Amino acid sequence: MRGYDWSTVRNVADVGGNNGTLLIELLCAHPHLRGTVIDLPNVAGIAARRIEEAGLADRGTAVAASFFEELPKGHDVYLLSGILADWSDEKSVAILRRVAEAAGPDGRVLLAEINLPEMGTGLAAADTALRVAATVPVPARTVEAVKDLAGRAGLTPAWQGPVGPVRSVVEFSPAVAGDRVPEVAGA
Ligand SMILES: C[S@@+](CC[C@H](N)C(=O)[O-])C[C@H]1O[C@@H](n2cnc3c(N)ncnc32)[C@H](O)[C@@H]1O
Repeated sequence: MRGYDWSTVRNVADVGGNNGTLLIELLCAHPHLRGTVIDLPNVAGIAARRIEEAGLADRGTAVAASFFEELPKGHDVYLLSGILADWSDEKSVAILRRVAEAAGPDGRVLLAEINLPEMGTGLAAADTALRVAATVPVPARTVEAVKDLAGRAGLTPAWQGPVGPVRSVVEFSPAVAGDRVPEVAGA
């Protein structure tokens, strides 16, 4: 999440947020922030317990829902971290459509997606590429490919963080193109 401005975000939904690790980190780092893990029922139960054990039950929660169905509305930011890499282009667009609907015209969608646009060279880069290829069923997408999928779901890039060797963060707005001026953050 390096470089993302959380100061204007009141509440975040971590869609497919698993056991709540990322949400707990975010809530600890940003004391004004509230958040919800959205995941499948058994996983959401684990996240709810971990959030409570972390002493964050006053600002954090977890709800059970599928990202292929209607998602809870009302969050400022819908975060998807490492989600699309598990799914085909068609399924990814379906997920992004559900998220865009939940975000509504004033919400934002933040993708922290696995990608390998700048793998570099050397053994460490080759090792990372091999691990991702072995564990992620769909070939890792470039940032441009992720933006293309988001565009098919009606999402327009609004902000982009530095492109990392494994993950990049891009914020999208469901608003029509031209509403916000895209900018690229410095590294
Ligand atoms: C690769 S993990 C990503 C976890 C976490 N966001 C991260 O960055 O490490 C994918 C997550 O998606 C969840 N998931 C899978 N299918 C889902 C669905 N239909 N609706 C909601 N969550 C789902 C899984 O339970 C899992 O927690």
